[in-house]
Amino acid sequence: MNRGHPDPGTEGGRDTLVTEKKPDETEPAPDLALPEFDTAVAHIARVYDYWLGGVSHFEVDRRAAKMAARDFPGIIRGVREQRAFLARAVRYLAAEQGIRQFLDIGTGIPSANNTHEVAQAAAPECRVVYVDNDPMVIANARALLRSDKDRSTFVAADLRDTGTILAEAQRMLDFSQPVAVLLIGILQLIPDADDPYAIVGRLLSAVPSGSWLAIAQPTGDVKTSQIAKAAGRFNQRASTPVTLRTHAEVSRFFAGTDLIPPGVVQLHRWRPLPGGPESDEDIPAYCGLASKTPAG
Ligand SMILES: C[S@@+](CC[C@H](N)C(=O)[O-])C[C@H]1O[C@@H](n2cnc3c(N)ncnc32)[C@H](O)[C@@H]1O
Repeated sequence: MNRGHPDPGTEGGRDTLVTEKKPDETEPAPDLALPEFDTAVAHIARVYDYWLGGVSHFEVDRRAAKMAARDFPGIIRGVREQRAFLARAVRYLAAEQGIRQFLDIGTGIPSANNTHEVAQAAAPECRVVYVDNDPMVIANARALLRSDKDRSTFVAADLRDTGTILAEAQRMLDFSQPVAVLLIGILQLIPDADDPYAIVGRLLSAVPSGSWLAIAQPTGDVKTSQIAKAAGRFNQRASTPVTLRTHAEVSRFFAGTDLIPPGVVQLHRWRPLPGGPESDEDIPAYCGLASKTPAG
């Protein structure tokens, strides 16, 4: 978990990244130069990494993460179940639906069971394009994917900029063949004012029929008062606020697609593995997986 990236440290009371330069090391290649990290405000990618037990976070992220976990103690179980949904959906697509191309937007800092690892375990020829706009994710993804350049790549872009995402993705993916578009834990970071439904629509129109859409998104439908408190206080500290969505609002992202059973459900209730989940207690996040049907 979280191998191959620099460890954050503290120096003079201010968070810095500690990087060790070996004696024979020349200047890094341009694509390896470390981006600037904003340590004044919490970033969801780094907060999420903290909740998942990673090491790529700063004090400001840890404070926000701990505060949210105090307001809603189920948060750690929720983020683990989100990763587990991602793995189950990718495995299902690669092993049971023959999907060989994945566009994973809102990648996050590499953790266990990254999309290319799960997909390629089922079918080694699977190709994955990752997209994220966070500098810490960018630094980590470059390091992780260096050994898998023929089958995985990373695009630094904002989800709203679908033109750039689609143009860059087509360098590695063949858009005449089905593509699985993964939007796991990212749509809540796009406020209604930026029309996330239109964004999903643009992505889906660019991929051929037989493609797939996977979504996971937090809700305030269950554990309502705890979640409202946690989200409200988190939003005061975070660079990007979280928008909770109802079951109907999450379902609307799948308009015009064929949702496979069990439909839009809480993370742990989506096709659990035999023997799981550990608990059936509510998790305030929905997910679903749907195929794009032939036009007309
Ligand atoms: C909660 S993490 C989810 C990570 C991963 N998909 C998972 O389920 O483990 C959300 C990720 O989306 C990224 N993100 C947030 N807003 C974004 C945007 N507008 N464009 C691209 N990436 C974004 C964040 O940087 C972060 O890495």
